Amino acid sequence: MNVLVTGGAGYIGSHTCIELLEAGHTVTVIDNLSNSSLESLKRVKQITGKDVVFHEVDLLDKPALAKVLESDTFDAAIHFAALKAVGESVEQPITYYHNNVTGTLNLCEAMANVGLKNIVFSSSATVYGTPKSLPLTEDADTPIEEVTNPYGRSKLMVEWALKDIHTSDGDWNIALLRYFNPVGAHKSGLIGEDPQGPPNNLMPYVSQVAVGKREKLSVYGDDYATPDGTGVRDYIHVVDLAKGHVKAIEKLATKPGVVVYNLGTGQGYSVLEMVKGFEAASGKDVPYQIIERRAGDIASCYADPEKAKSDLGWQAELGLRDMCEDSWRWQSQNPDGYKQAS
Ligand code: NAD
Ligand code: UD1
Repeated sequence: MNVLVTGGAGYIGSHTCIELLEAGHTVTVIDNLSNSSLESLKRVKQITGKDVVFHEVDLLDKPALAKVLESDTFDAAIHFAALKAVGESVEQPITYYHNNVTGTLNLCEAMANVGLKNIVFSSSATVYGTPKSLPLTEDADTPIEEVTNPYGRSKLMVEWALKDIHTSDGDWNIALLRYFNPVGAHKSGLIGEDPQGPPNNLMPYVSQVAVGKREKLSVYGDDYATPDGTGVRDYIHVVDLAKGHVKAIEKLATKPGVVVYNLGTGQGYSVLEMVKGFEAASGKDVPYQIIERRAGDIASCYADPEKAKSDLGWQAELGLRDMCEDSWRWQSQNPDGYKQAS
């Protein structure tokens, strides 16, 4: 298939480009490089030996977007492009809603104008708010008032907008993929997560402590109702996640209408289990201190991944050891991310 990938220079997008190319698909990336670097796509070529067509275009620039859509005939779009920093979204809700919601509407409009009606959307487990029961199945409630920040609400709003677009025009096929906690990096150590400034998420912070860039990890609370009191999440290797997207575009080719899948492993790990796993994989100490809970955090969150398994024939194959070893390989080979290369 000929696939349009928005946000393809980013963390999950660049890993997905590799899996698409290796599965024999052709790839065109749209990215405004607001949170990424072209170096990631150079490395995609280094890993696969295959080219990606790249357009430096912002989804808010409708004429430029229309030109890309008219430049080729695509079979499906995978839509990663979004802003994703939870704290920043609280400070800049207008920017976040514009970028994530208006950006998606612009994309859908440009797609419809050329008759392209197959889209995979990067949603998040954050749409479930505080889980009523675990593991989370796709039919669990997604009450918008329980989502604690504009970033999360932008994901839920886009889910609803896409469902409404399908209701108005049944030719659309839409896969809403709810990611749990993506971590890890490609086995080559050439591409990985490259956060700008202090990482907000656990694994990039742990990696930066292990490599000596940060002194110690702050663990947000050890008084949750979990086995060791620290938060439990469903960490999923980014390469497994990327493979889920290849399965999702194949599913869209069967014209399923709107489909929703959890992409997780089904296995929860606590913060301290992740720290221990990382120490074992890296051979480095990860000093930490326990501090107060982070506002908006929940105790536990993990997926029931059965629907993706039975419907898409997809399941996560990589475990905690791979997640930690591969994060460490990327971090230790690229202590300053892509910066040192560009
Ligand atoms: P990322 O920031 O690495 O990638 C997003 C890419 O989109 C970046 O390259 C950025 O430059 C680009 N972009 C942003 N706004 C754009 C715009 N208006 N026009 C063009 N390009 C734009 O993030 P990621 O971790 O790879 O996440 C990819 C998607 O998955 C996002 O939609 C994110 O919300 C979603 N998601 C991520 C996680 C996670 O933990 N990483 C979890 C759940 C969902
Ligand atoms: C966070 C976002 C969520 C987003 C997801 C993407 C919040 C409230 N939620 O989820 O919207 O979809 O990232 O992966 O920001 N932790 C520490 N110390 C740290 C960082 C994290 O103890 O420095 C703990 C957290 O309390 C949590 C676990 O590690 O228990 C995972 O945190 P994180 O990686 O930020 O992911 P989520 O909170 O699950």
